[in-house]
This record gives sequence, structure tokens and C-alpha cells, in this order.
Amino acid sequence: MIILGIETSCDETAVSVCMDGKILSNIVGSQLIHSNFGGVVPEVASREHERLLNDLTVKAIDSAKISINVIDGIAVTNGPGLAGALLTGVSFAKGLAIGLGIEIVSINHLEAHIIANLLDRDDINYPFLCLLVSGGHTQLWLIKKMDDYTLLGETRDDAAGEAFDKGARILGLGYPGGPEIEKCAQFGDSNLVKFPRAFINSRTIEFSFSGLKTSLLYYMDSFQETNECTLNDVAASYQSAIIDCLVAKMKLATKLTSVNTISIAGGVAKNKFLRQSIDKNLSDKNIIFPDLKYCTDNAAMISYLGEKKFQMGKKTNLDFSIKPNFKNNLD
Ligand code: KG4
Ligand code: ZN
Repeated sequence: MIILGIETSCDETAVSVCMDGKILSNIVGSQLIHSNFGGVVPEVASREHERLLNDLTVKAIDSAKISINVIDGIAVTNGPGLAGALLTGVSFAKGLAIGLGIEIVSINHLEAHIIANLLDRDDINYPFLCLLVSGGHTQLWLIKKMDDYTLLGETRDDAAGEAFDKGARILGLGYPGGPEIEKCAQFGDSNLVKFPRAFINSRTIEFSFSGLKTSLLYYMDSFQETNECTLNDVAASYQSAIIDCLVAKMKLATKLTSVNTISIAGGVAKNKFLRQSIDKNLSDKNIIFPDLKYCTDNAAMISYLGEKKFQMGKKTNLDFSIKPNFKNNLD
């Protein structure tokens, strides 16, 4: 089966071709224009998707070395995400499906992030736990099998990626903030500044990062860089507060569920300090790290999951709409 995947939920315009579980092409057009504004501007994102989609689709088909006529179905993200951005991808996908006379399946972006763990590897056994940490979400999921997921807990306010992005802005670093903070943190001492770690000792799976961000804001009000405490030390300490909370809840989830395989997903899953901390603190567990290129938004995860859905007999009626908001499940 050959499936074309389309992803436009935020600021990545991405198109991919998957054939029989193998990714033949994975084209991601990152919209660098948003770095001028220090964050994603929804209207700009929609216009950029519109500008890029056609060319990137041609590129994905060419680099997969297939002809457009052999595509069996289209998978497209319909949420959660920015409404306008989702609409451009969904409208484009519907038009293409009608033009080619093929079926379409709508894909939940968060489910795709989780299932990205299965890409390029067949050694993952169900059930497994997945910490999904992106710019918009921070959730811990129990994956019993494909299509059978339980949300164990999530953030009460900001997502971990959002904490990185807002923290970077306070520190005067660029966007997206995660990689910027990570860069500074490698030269800093993570024990120098004591930032709060909300819920870290609670017996519930929940996160909160808005207090941490406020605490950084107050700290920076009176901050003067010295040899004893540099901006790198602050970045390292801030990053460490986020990571400690994430890892503590991963540990708690393994205890509460007795599930010993754990994975991560989403943009923050790229962070090497997070990966090191998981390795260190969950060394007795079976840990799965997705390939770096499948952590941030991409369409490989959409085409791959789309193929699985088609194989399960799922398809979506053409009149489906977008679902910008997460509603407690991955439908
Ligand atoms: O999954 P993703 O590409 O888009 C969403 O679905 O939100 O995640 C983007 C988020 C941004 O908040 C970005 O700062 C964060 O992932 N991120 C990182 C790193 N790379 C990207 N956070 C921490 N460390 C990184 N290396
Ligand atoms: Zn994402």
C-alpha cells in the first residue's frame, strides 16, 4: 500500500510517502519566518502552508521515486493544532483525494507523535508508556495496542515545549526555545539556581510549568551575569527543573501501571539532557527513543499511521472537519 501523508498543524509544512511500513520520503519545510516574531503567528503559518504545500508534495513524490497515480490513499492531520493551518492541509488533501479518486483518512497529530516510536523499528512490544512532550502538549499515555490508548495525566497549564519557548524568550534567546536553551545549558551548571518543580513528589500524574516560567521571569528581573553565575547556568538550571518533573512522572507511571517499556515523543523528546536523565533514572526499564527526525513535526508519522489505519479498514468521509482542540482522546 502506498500512502501520502500531509502535516500542517503548526509551523512545519510536511509531506511524506510510506509504502508497506517503509518511509520512502519525508520532506519537512520549516517555516523559519516565525523566528522573526519570537513565536508562531497563526495567520502567517496558514499562508506559508498554502505557498509550500504543492511544491513539497511534488518533491515528496519525486524523492519517493513513484508516480502520483500509484498512491492508494491520503492521510492528513486534522487536529489538534492551529485552525487555519489545519484547514490548509485538510483542504489540500481533500482536493488531491478527489482529483485522484482515492480514499482519505484523518489523523490525530498526537497519536502520530506516539506511533512515530514504531517507525524504522519492529522491536517494540505493547503495552508501553509514552511521554508526549511537544510545544502544545505534555501528556503521559498508556499504549495498550494500536488504537487503544489511556491518558494517564497531563499538564494543568503550559506544555513542556511551551516552557522551553517562553523561558528562552525571557532569557533573550531565539525561537524555537528548546534547542536554544539546550545549547546554552551544555556550558552551564544545572544546580546553581533553584527553580520550583511543581507536583514532583505528588502521587498523581500531572504537570505544571507556568509557575516555573514566572519564577524565571522574577529571577531575571534582578539578574546580573557574573563569573559565579552565567546565563548558561540559569538556562541549565531552568532546563533541569523541567526535565526533573518529566522524569519523576515517568518513574511514577511505571510504578502505577507496572509497565516496563517507556518511550518519549514530540519535539522536546529531541533534548539530549532529557534522554540522559531518562537513561540514568529509569535504567532498569526498556527505554525507547524515537529517531531525532521523527520527534519534531513531520509527515512520516502521518503517512505511517495512515497506512496502519487503512489496513485496519478505517477511512474518513470526505466531509470531515478539523479538530483544533484536544478532547481527551486520540480520535
Ligand atoms: O512536536 P513539535 O515539533 O510541535 C508541536 O506539536 O508542538 O514540538 C515543538 C516543541 C517546541 O516547543 C520546541 O521548543 C521543542 O519542541 N523542542 C525542544 C527541542 N527541540 C524542539 N525542546 C527541548 N529541547 C530540544 N532540543
Ligand atoms: Zn507536534
